[in-house]
Amino acid sequence: MSNFFMPAPPEILLSEDQIQKRVAELGLELRRDYPDGLHLVAVLKGAFVFLSDLIRQIPGELSVDFITATSYAEGTTSSGRVRLLNDLDVTIEGKDVVIVEDIVDSGTTLGYLQENLRSRNPRSLATICLLSKPARRQIDVTVEYVGFTIEDQFVVGYGLDYAGRYRNLRHIAVLQS
Ligand code: IMP
Ligand code: MG
Repeated sequence: MSNFFMPAPPEILLSEDQIQKRVAELGLELRRDYPDGLHLVAVLKGAFVFLSDLIRQIPGELSVDFITATSYAEGTTSSGRVRLLNDLDVTIEGKDVVIVEDIVDSGTTLGYLQENLRSRNPRSLATICLLSKPARRQIDVTVEYVGFTIEDQFVVGYGLDYAGRYRNLRHIAVLQS
């Protein structure tokens, strides 16, 4: 029998309820800080679930675009070079841009994206991450909006994957090693 429907990893770190509550707060915070509209740039793939819930908690004017980035591991370190696999569809010049990320770990991916997007002259640039693992930080990136700060653990669910799996969990779980 196929093991496609294998059970979810057991250790729930953040329940669906906790996540939804926090996402609603973050949506209102963004609306308050950008009353005239904002342009969200979601980092694929991991941020797509967060983005879809987040935008439904931001009443009023907004637009959305996507970017796909991948980081190369160099040796055994998690920090590496970042490459864009898919670029934005529309220009961000003169716009109030908010990068939407699933998780900031070493900061490599986000550091690269912030620099890359800033060079395209948005009116303003900020970042929202659902999760942050500060203990793992190697690049000092600024994240204006953080959903949850977590320990140095590998997590899955709510868009986050391990080898492509678990993105469909409604909660966030710690992957047991
Ligand atoms: P960074 O460049 O080291 O900050 O890594 C950022 C990317 O690594 C995230 O956008 C995720 O795609 C992935 N990542 C880092 N930590 C985790 C985790 O605990 N679970 C799933 N993906 C992770
Ligand atoms: Mg990611």
